[in-house]
Amino acid sequence: MTLPAAAINESKGRTLVAGATGFIGRFIVEASLESGRPTFILVRAEPTCPSKAKIINGFKEKGAIIVEGMINKKECMEKILKEKEIEVVISAVGGDNILDQISLVEAIAAVPTVKRFLASEFGHDVDRANPVEPGLTMYMEKRAVRRAIEEARVPYTHICCNSIASWPYYDNTHPSEVTPPMDRFQIYGDGTVKAYFVAGSDIGKLTMKTVDDPRTLNKIVHFRPPCNYLNMNQLASLWEKKIGRTLPRVTVTEADLLAAAAENRIPESIVAAFTHDIFIKGCQADFSVEGPNEVEMEHIYPDEPYKTMEECFDDFAVRVPTQFKVENEADKKYRKDATAEATPALEILPIPAMG
Ligand SMILES: NC(=O)c1ccc[n+]([C@@H]2O[C@H](COP(=O)([O-])OP(=O)(O)OC[C@H]3O[C@@H](n4cnc5c(N)ncnc54)[C@H](OP(=O)(O)O)[C@@H]3O)[C@@H](O)[C@H]2O)c1
Repeated sequence: MTLPAAAINESKGRTLVAGATGFIGRFIVEASLESGRPTFILVRAEPTCPSKAKIINGFKEKGAIIVEGMINKKECMEKILKEKEIEVVISAVGGDNILDQISLVEAIAAVPTVKRFLASEFGHDVDRANPVEPGLTMYMEKRAVRRAIEEARVPYTHICCNSIASWPYYDNTHPSEVTPPMDRFQIYGDGTVKAYFVAGSDIGKLTMKTVDDPRTLNKIVHFRPPCNYLNMNQLASLWEKKIGRTLPRVTVTEADLLAAAAENRIPESIVAAFTHDIFIKGCQADFSVEGPNEVEMEHIYPDEPYKTMEECFDDFAVRVPTQFKVENEADKKYRKDATAEATPALEILPIPAMG
């Protein structure tokens, strides 16, 4: 995510992003700055964590204006929105803080300059999808925020971007920060249920296109890129092509995913619940987008290209040390042993970390 700073265009609506240091928030801020919008980022307090301080400083250097505050402090948020004359508010707060947005909605409702609010959605249509617990609890919180927005008559756009482009590890909230497997694939069910994958940079870029588009006012926007509509088996084959070797495939059954969800370890079990919903129940594609309050991203911006999964896997592949990509005698023996099944004590090759 190293885009050059664009000239700030004051005629574009002033945008405030909460959750700017987070996984999704970073893509949004990059795209907002890149689009030349005056971009304000809300930070909770002086970050003690050096990596967060680095992110904030990076955004500052590209022209972002730092504002200190917390979305759950209504009066403070109201003051910020008024003083900075904010027109667009985007929240990308994480799963632990979804209900904090209720105070933010109240603050926005009191400030008429705000023309659009994008709540922390960035996943599935939470009124439609019905994952098992503990995923359901997070959806109930996101639903409560939707209801608060509607009651307060705050103009909104809900971004339903489906899965982040990466290997969909069932226990990792940010799977695109990890390379796809180098030891074996864990395939959910029979591996044939398809999902939509979207690169983080495209989530940011396309989200920013919606913020002042009248066609997305008070709408749910679904990302459904046909080029990235893939199942687990296809993802595995694509990754094998990139690394030039084949890997054993181990089945993770529906019962395995439900058991991982039932462990109620937060956040891992939430991811397991969503993984079950996506790759067993098919929640991303078991409906058509035809309601009066929803649109498909690809229909309103047909000329916007998506980064393909192939390109995303290319990015991962360059980070994999060469020795892992070469099919050698040790690999062959490893594969033979692994596919011969029975012995669970496989010698697992280390997974290289992303740089
Ligand atoms: N589609 C997908 O594959 C996918 C993947 C991941 C997440 N998501 C969704 O994307 C959204 C964001 O999740 P994430 O994982 O990106 O979040 P995250 O990495 O946990 O980051 C959360 C951010 O929110 C900030 N924050 C939290 N509470 C706040 C408050 N009260 N006031 C101001 N800032 C606050 C944090 O600030 P600090 O720096 O101070 O901690 C941090 O910047 C969620 O709705 C999540 O469900 C979707």
